[in-house]
Amino acid sequence: MTVAPPWALLAELTHGCPLRCAYCSNPVELISRSEELNTGQWVGVLRQAADLGVVQTHLSGGEPLLRRDLADIVAAADTAGLYTQLVTSGVGLHERRLAELKDAGLRCVQLSVQHADPITSELIAGARSFAAKERAAKLVRAAGLPLGLNVVLHRANIDALDDLIALGLAWGADRVELANTQFYGWALRNRASLLPTREQVEHARQAVARRRESLGRAMELVWVAADYLDGTAKPCMGGWGAVSLTVAPDGTVLPCPAAASLPGLDPPNAKDYQLAWIWRESHAFNAYRGEAWMQEPCRGCVLRTTDFGGCRCQAHALTGDAARTDPVCRHAPDHGLVRDLVAAPYAADTARAAAPVAAPAYREGGT
Ligand code: FES
Repeated sequence: MTVAPPWALLAELTHGCPLRCAYCSNPVELISRSEELNTGQWVGVLRQAADLGVVQTHLSGGEPLLRRDLADIVAAADTAGLYTQLVTSGVGLHERRLAELKDAGLRCVQLSVQHADPITSELIAGARSFAAKERAAKLVRAAGLPLGLNVVLHRANIDALDDLIALGLAWGADRVELANTQFYGWALRNRASLLPTREQVEHARQAVARRRESLGRAMELVWVAADYLDGTAKPCMGGWGAVSLTVAPDGTVLPCPAAASLPGLDPPNAKDYQLAWIWRESHAFNAYRGEAWMQEPCRGCVLRTTDFGGCRCQAHALTGDAARTDPVCRHAPDHGLVRDLVAAPYAADTARAAAPVAAPAYREGGT
């Protein structure tokens, strides 16, 4: 099979983070700071990625600003010809730091936002952070860089969409990504308390459609679907090993950020292998590439060329078998598992006093 080159690299520079969000999709076992790739190793990864065909990199984490060598890493990406986006909580972004990053070649910033109300925002983040985010947004706009806000939606903030969109406008964002929680890593542990109700999601979806129309071109709204509630599998990662690769803080190279949890994948490390070999030849990248791995009903489904069988990590998390049809799909033999999970918050709603939904547990290990 001819393997097309990837176009995006998610560079997880560190798992360290000043926030403690319960919806964090990073693994339950985080990679320690002492295991992180050093500057030279990241420079090598970025050069190899560009040689392989990657055109853009998202510098993420954790909080990438915790890396003192972030400007060197940005400069290496820029020199290699990569378009560079910083994905940040905003905590630690000061005027001089941003100027240094911009000089190094940073092209845009995506800022995480938890809520439009400062107190609720800090409750969700588990840390003082709202003022830092507001300041970061101002600095990014003043520096003339494009600004995106990313809001992970869950039970505790999905009803505040209008306020979140108003915040995006007030902070001068070019786009707001409204991303329903993806249940991997730490977030999976908190699924019962994070899952919104069907009514909440429907209401939010309608609010987005309404606001898109009224906003016109003033600000882009991106809606990342709530696949547990939609009955439709998402085209996860644009297909396994199809368009994107992830490098974890310790150099492990993965087809998606959650794939480290899949047993038997044996993902290679950029310290030991060239990225080109990893992308084209490694077992990890070929395990679910294309359609040969698919079972029924995916194998005979017309949607297989658009949803690529859904998400392998979700299939594994829900059934223990990464090759099964993603249970969020209404045609999946295991769809009943998801129906039951989605029904659970309703039960809690109607009998809240008797069976309250537990508060989600703050992320541990990242600070
Ligand atoms: Fe790994 Fe979807 S998150 S394949």
